[in-house]
Amino acid sequence: MMAPGEESRRTGSAARVCLALDFASRKDVVDAARRFAPRAGWLKIGLEAFISEGPSLVADVAATGARVFLDLKLHDIPNTVARAVSAAAATGAAMVNVHALGGREMLLAARGAGGAGANRPLLIAVTLLTSLDSRALSDLPVSGTPEGIARRLAVLARDCGLDGVVCSPSDLPAIRSACGPSFLTVVPGIRPEGGVSGDQKRTGTPRAAIAAGADILVVGRPVTAAADPDAALAALLDEIESARMPSR
Ligand code: C5P
Repeated sequence: MMAPGEESRRTGSAARVCLALDFASRKDVVDAARRFAPRAGWLKIGLEAFISEGPSLVADVAATGARVFLDLKLHDIPNTVARAVSAAAATGAAMVNVHALGGREMLLAARGAGGAGANRPLLIAVTLLTSLDSRALSDLPVSGTPEGIARRLAVLARDCGLDGVVCSPSDLPAIRSACGPSFLTVVPGIRPEGGVSGDQKRTGTPRAAIAAGADILVVGRPVTAAADPDAALAALLDEIESARMPSR
């Protein structure tokens, strides 16, 4: 029997929201987790908080009942990444990630180290950062469009047995058509209509991302830095709900 509120956290619009707790101190992260957990099914711990406060922060955030996405974007040689994925899984995180650009051998090693069975964390791969657009790519030794690169990296991650990818809203059509409907898509770069992009370049609205097949929307500053964070989260949940049920 699910506790009150648990069902919507697992299946409703709240299950589609991953709130990025991008704060430096344990107190700020845990306060935000307690404040938003009933309405955000996923909470994300990123590099800043993890480096400052360490692995025990995962348990503190998970104690709110939300699932924890430990967003460390691992990218190193296969042996190092495998050991780090194993350590990340041991924190109790429900989702961990690596960079697909680490290559096939690294992705296979990460998959092998992530554990087996129902309790293993979801393992996903970052395709192309949402902060990189065509102009930023022109400085880098890569060729192709952002969408094409993201699609190729998603196919690689799927072929290596990963559960899904982190991708931009604009990459969703290409990734969905290449990887099918059950491949998990976790989508940052979410901005409300007319919202401030900041360092994000390839952005999309919650409605457009859900309509293009996003499973989980990663949202940070549009909620946490809003003048009224609770109202911003409520508006996000409403927009997701109406995008999921367009005929309403
Ligand atoms: O504040 P904002 O909504 O831009 O936060 C987005 C979050 O998603 C940040 O925590 C960032 O680290 C993360 N992220 C991202 N782009 C990726 C992967 C993760 O913005 N490709």
